[in-house]
Amino acid sequence: MNSRRTGSQKQMDEQLLQAFERVCEEQLALCEALENIADQLGAQPDRQKCLQMAEELDPVMQRAHAFEADVLFPLLASIANDDSQQTAVIARRYLEQLKMEHDDDVGLVGEVVEALREFGQDNSPISSDAIGYMLRGLFVGLRRHLAYENQVVRTITQNH
Ligand SMILES: [Fe+2]
Repeated sequence: MNSRRTGSQKQMDEQLLQAFERVCEEQLALCEALENIADQLGAQPDRQKCLQMAEELDPVMQRAHAFEADVLFPLLASIANDDSQQTAVIARRYLEQLKMEHDDDVGLVGEVVEALREFGQDNSPISSDAIGYMLRGLFVGLRRHLAYENQVVRTITQNH
């Protein structure tokens, strides 16, 4: 991206980092809570906790996706479309990858919310093992996604 770093550019970078850190922390806490639930599912399932998580999951993910859709994706798109920026190509790749992960998450979150709700109501058509497997898929994938998104955010705030 270019080497001119104006005061307002720095301020925008700072705002981007802060916004990312907020949604990132919230999602990491969510991953930890999901892992705790998954660990307890077989031996001592806490159905109340499952119901609570079924309510919390969607709003956290919606805030995370709003950050991507409203802040991060438009910024990446503007870099990707600016051929004078050295990192236009890499920004294009970041954007493609993050959008794909974003779409995968949306489907999985819906399935997990439903599974947790049914399990919480003691009305689950699938085993606790299967739910544990699903939860692991979500938090392992989400942690990986956050590490990648962190790399993307650091790269664009350092280079443009
Ligand atoms: Fe994300």
